[in-house]
Amino acid sequence: MDSKQFRDAAVSSIDEIVNYFDTIAQRDVVSKVEPGYLRKILPSSAPEEGEDWATIQSDIETKIMPGITHWQHPSFHAFFPCASSYPGILGELYSAALSGACFNWICSPAVTELETVVLDWLAKMLGLPEVFLSTGPSRGGGVIQGSASEAVLTAMVAAREKYLRETVPEGLAEEEREDLVAKKRSRMVALGSGGAHSSTKKAAIILGVRFETIPVTAEDGYALSGRRLGEKLEELRGRGLEPFFLTVTLGTTDVCAVDDFRGVADVLESYRAQREGDGGGEVWVHVDAAYAGAALVCPEVQEQTDVKVVERFHSFDMNMHKWLLTNFDASCLFVRDRSWFVKALTINQAVYNNEASEGGLVTDYREWQIPLGRRFRSLKIWFVMRTYGVKGLQDYIRRGIRFGEEFAEMLRSRSGLFEILTGPSFALVVFRMVGKDEEEKNKLTKALCERINTSGKMWVTPTVLDGRFAIRFMTGVRTTEKKHVDAAFESIVKYAEEVHSA
Ligand SMILES: Cc1ncc(COP(=O)(O)O)c(C=O)c1O
Repeated sequence: MDSKQFRDAAVSSIDEIVNYFDTIAQRDVVSKVEPGYLRKILPSSAPEEGEDWATIQSDIETKIMPGITHWQHPSFHAFFPCASSYPGILGELYSAALSGACFNWICSPAVTELETVVLDWLAKMLGLPEVFLSTGPSRGGGVIQGSASEAVLTAMVAAREKYLRETVPEGLAEEEREDLVAKKRSRMVALGSGGAHSSTKKAAIILGVRFETIPVTAEDGYALSGRRLGEKLEELRGRGLEPFFLTVTLGTTDVCAVDDFRGVADVLESYRAQREGDGGGEVWVHVDAAYAGAALVCPEVQEQTDVKVVERFHSFDMNMHKWLLTNFDASCLFVRDRSWFVKALTINQAVYNNEASEGGLVTDYREWQIPLGRRFRSLKIWFVMRTYGVKGLQDYIRRGIRFGEEFAEMLRSRSGLFEILTGPSFALVVFRMVGKDEEEKNKLTKALCERINTSGKMWVTPTVLDGRFAIRFMTGVRTTEKKHVDAAFESIVKYAEEVHSA
């Protein structure tokens, strides 16, 4: 493809993409293809000769689209949103053109420096304490990761190494030190609440440390309380185990609960004071705000969630690609002291040496992440922030929250059919059908969920809370308007009545 062919192909592709968004509501939300459908219709080997763009492009509609579930559809109410916006798409396009592995500052100074700047902008927008700014008093800063799972893994590696530095005495002989580290590692425990995302457990599995869950209850709104944490720490101590990492969540996956940050911070402060005498290390606290962190762009949400308390924690992560209009992937991870990452993740190899790095004047993001190479992801964030402005982002978040509240109100107006289990919280409502007992409620709700999802017109996600089957309904997608929420409710009522009378 030469530059003229590229221009023509790009123009016609952009036309198609705009048309896709303009007409997306006419499509079914959920793909209905059978497993292996593409293998049946695509050749078994790559073409010998190159093909022209028009032929390739025509396959998008006929071969790819049938297998797409449309996350940008206004009736996508499942999981959490996965953003796509025009400025985000343009950011991806430019970044594809400037493709490079950009692991060190010298590889493309703009890639590193723009990331530092936009993450400082983001930290300020979210109302994060100064310690998470690159210019802050504790030499913190932000780095873009691919996903919240990668972010928690990165934080956990840094936490493990920090804990070992704090608890393994200096001056031991090499072998003695190795033995002690191995013994300690076998006793180290990462913690998450019953509402924490499975990525914390996965990170613990990858790192070969123990993982334990702290139970949460309906009475606490499925949020982690300081009291429950205190009980767990006590229990672990009794078993001779060493907690070194805790994930607290702002917006849990099931119900969007917010853990009690202040209670957790207070309990950990007294735990630390107790342990200082017996050589124990500090518990690293990672805030997983993957989805709901986006809502912190609104000052009223900063207030409600008491976000300033995260100053007492070690790392904070949120996905701009979920609810903040930036195309996948853009998981923004902030740390209070960047040297924790650098000490854990720097491996020297002659080929990566350069004057700028050795002079200590630049950031080399390879030392803040697991992979070496990295994409130019800050560009799309920059485009999104500048196109929408802080006010535009706030309007978008408030609209999603309002739709959630309106949907909850509609459910309440039909209390003979539905009951709300949690929310509305951050544009998420969790509800179920009413029935004579738990068993009937579960049966009816399961049937309703299946009925909604097999319609193809809308997609919702089921969950189970303390054995209670429920439906999550999320209203944060960019293309969703009030009329779509109204239409969704009307269909849900119709399906619920069918399920009742069946
Ligand atoms: C609270 C929370 N944390 C982490 C994740 C994992 O996100 P990712 O796909 O970015 O790893 C999710 C996914 O929805 C989530 O809801």
